[in-house]
Amino acid sequence: MPPLPGASPSRQPVHSDADFAHPSHPFALVVNVPLVDMTPRNGSTEVWLGTHNHPDGLDAQEGAHGHRASGRIKADRLAEWEAAHGGLSQPTIKKGSVIIRDLRLWHAGMPNTSGGVRVMLAMIHFANWYRNPMRLELAEDVRPVLEGLDSRGELGLDVPVDWVPKEDVMKGYLNRAFGNAYDFGQAP
Ligand SMILES: [Fe+2]
Repeated sequence: MPPLPGASPSRQPVHSDADFAHPSHPFALVVNVPLVDMTPRNGSTEVWLGTHNHPDGLDAQEGAHGHRASGRIKADRLAEWEAAHGGLSQPTIKKGSVIIRDLRLWHAGMPNTSGGVRVMLAMIHFANWYRNPMRLELAEDVRPVLEGLDSRGELGLDVPVDWVPKEDVMKGYLNRAFGNAYDFGQAP
């Protein structure tokens, strides 16, 4: 999404972030927390309410995962949905709110014409039965902390981690890929 003022004069194409073969029921939720008020003027995300249940799923999309602007919704499906349901919305949301949406929901990042930066935390949570292949990369000095919590039964999480030297983390942590650069598909 284009959060910086003037970064892009154009809107994103309407798309789904679930641009890979996926279940036809909920399996992942996106959680957003805006750190400033979000309005149509500073580019709050356009959402197409109800489209997470669109019967065509992946068939409604064009552009494969890994390609630029993947998961674009085909023009005929957009027109059909808008005629039948309307429901596209660009909401105003107070800072500190928690926004939860199904990963399959159609949406589009919008231009920021406000002159201020729009800051938003974005997290994706997958169901624990979903065999996500992604792993965390954490520094070795965190290892005793997690292992200590686990040994005392206080962790309560299955944490798939690749342990790397702290220097490597410090060199690369601001240079990570984001969004659809990761493979959200389910491991076989
Ligand atoms: Fe997206």
